[in-house]
Amino acid sequence: MTRTHDQNVRDDIKNLIHPYTPLNTFGATGPMVIRKGDGVYVEDDQGNRYLEGMAGLWCTALGFSDQRLVNAAIKQMKDLPYYQIFAGRSNEPSIELSERLLAMTRHLGMDKALYANSGSEANDAAVKVIWYYFNAMGKPNKKKLIARERGYHGVTVMAGSLTGIPGNHADFDLPVDRVLRTGCPSLYHYGRPGETDDQLVDRLVADLEALIAKEGAETIAAFFAEPVQGAGGVIVPPMSYFPKIQAVLKKNNILMVADEVICGFGRTGNMFGSDTYGIQPDIMTVAKALSSSYMPISATLVTKEIFDGLVKGSERNGAFSHGVTYAGHPVASAVAVEALKIYEETNIVGHVQKISPRFLQRLSALQSHPLVSATRGVGLIGAMEIVQDKATRKPFDAASGVMAHLGNAVLEQRLITRPLRDTMAVCPPLIITEPQIDELFDKLGRALDHTLGFARDKKLVS
Ligand SMILES: Cc1ncc(COP(=O)(O)O)c(C=O)c1O
Repeated sequence: MTRTHDQNVRDDIKNLIHPYTPLNTFGATGPMVIRKGDGVYVEDDQGNRYLEGMAGLWCTALGFSDQRLVNAAIKQMKDLPYYQIFAGRSNEPSIELSERLLAMTRHLGMDKALYANSGSEANDAAVKVIWYYFNAMGKPNKKKLIARERGYHGVTVMAGSLTGIPGNHADFDLPVDRVLRTGCPSLYHYGRPGETDDQLVDRLVADLEALIAKEGAETIAAFFAEPVQGAGGVIVPPMSYFPKIQAVLKKNNILMVADEVICGFGRTGNMFGSDTYGIQPDIMTVAKALSSSYMPISATLVTKEIFDGLVKGSERNGAFSHGVTYAGHPVASAVAVEALKIYEETNIVGHVQKISPRFLQRLSALQSHPLVSATRGVGLIGAMEIVQDKATRKPFDAASGVMAHLGNAVLEQRLITRPLRDTMAVCPPLIITEPQIDELFDKLGRALDHTLGFARDKKLVS
């Protein structure tokens, strides 16, 4: 019997491990298989068209059908599909990318770029760079890394250890040692009764000072933070948070690593989250929108001071013995160069600034919905908290199936958003237009209404 393409795809699904899916639990329906992309929309293998309100995994800034990016890849594939950048070799796209990337981040102090393929690797490399730097500077005791509750920095052994989400640790034997955990600047989740944002910040600053005093500043190397925490629930920090935290870090000679993997390239309404929140990083990690995610590529950017330390260390060791096969991959670099050109030529940041008020206004209007206790957002990233009881902010019991219902109701509206515990996240491609923002929130509103009906039928809400 001849098998159709669809049957083959369905069978192959069984051979794939799907992240964040309980293994061996695909029911009759299986996963949603996406086949095509068109602007901010994607189409599944059944022909259903969805507004992709998460830009994939917070990443396809230019949507799903940018022809300039496609052409850049084709051209580079034809010219030179691969060449490495080890031991005195290089390729033109990776050089051009570094020039552009550093021109865009020079005001934040960045001076050199180290490439890899994913955000996790970029953060892993940041850790290795930090240890190498302090060893070279004669401070071999500076090893510990501070990272925050709800932080997400990836899943490799070290990045996964920096990540502050219990699910990413359980049974993976993470976190490894050398990681210290500190608080998350979310008044909604961690505020004490009557506490203001500024009081929360002062408490977190005091906690950080106490942690540093307890461990000894001479043992602590760096602090890792996303400007806006993404996978931890879209935590938008108070404006006073980073300046005050950084003052403590500076006083104690602790490096600041800005994980810009989600926030980089316009997401928060400025080119970088560090611009929006007044962060002065020693190291920045970027990925995702670096190539609009059309090719896997990430970078760890460092200041001249750090780079000089790496030079010193490599003189001692004979070489800087770190790098991955696909670092500075010419096709990925060429696509990233094109993405950066598009951001500049189309003034993507200006576009985000122009339409963000509509996005934030429609998001915040959802607070009047009986299931939504709070919303938060900045630029084109936002989230809402789904609760059973608005007065007490009590979330639904997972067994109630309400969040699962909402997830399905959103899909039935032909919209893609991302449930994170009791939070629903939205993070559309940056090219989204105002009518598409309205479409997104109209659909979300209908999905919430549908879910309210479900919760009422189950007598979970009145
Ligand atoms: C802020 C942040 N850092 C790092 C990562 C890890 O990136 P990757 O999944 O490419 O390894 C992610 C992924 O979502 C992220 O959101």
